[in-house]
Amino acid sequence: MRHRILFVCLGNICRSPMAEGVFRKVAVDAGLLDHLVIDSAGTGNWHVGDPPDPRAQAATSLRGIDISGLRARQVSNQDFDNFDLLLAMDQSNHSDLTSLGAGEAVDRVRLFLDYAPDLGLRDVPDPYYGGKDGFDDVLNLVELASEGLLRELQSGL
Ligand code: 4NP
Repeated sequence: MRHRILFVCLGNICRSPMAEGVFRKVAVDAGLLDHLVIDSAGTGNWHVGDPPDPRAQAATSLRGIDISGLRARQVSNQDFDNFDLLLAMDQSNHSDLTSLGAGEAVDRVRLFLDYAPDLGLRDVPDPYYGGKDGFDDVLNLVELASEGLLRELQSGL
């Protein structure tokens, strides 16, 4: 069984590339990378082709994860065929995705933080207009959700 997972935020330069990098590390550490396709995209197109925000790269790098090679892209209709799960970083991304997707594809759109229900939080806060601490907060949240997602996938692999 293979799982294809797309992390989605607004710009694809902060939250979703960090989630992609963190989840890839969690999957590598669990020896499951061969079973997974992992990617990220943004609902907006302002940053297409850009590397992750330098603050996102710095915070992620401090945890031993290199996301410098990622480049932003916009979500496309094909993503609904190419991925089994489209994981939105917040409820606004979730609602943008469900308006883009047709029919049963919408069932594959989920909120990423729902894989960490103990957090009691559904949105990964957008760190773009805030300070450096916001990026660490994002990492703490996406680490917990990545572990929850991995556990769920392992039960079905
Ligand atoms: P992200 O953050 O959705 O986590 O990548 C943002 C990056 C850029 C913008 C908004 C959010 N922007 O408006 O350019």
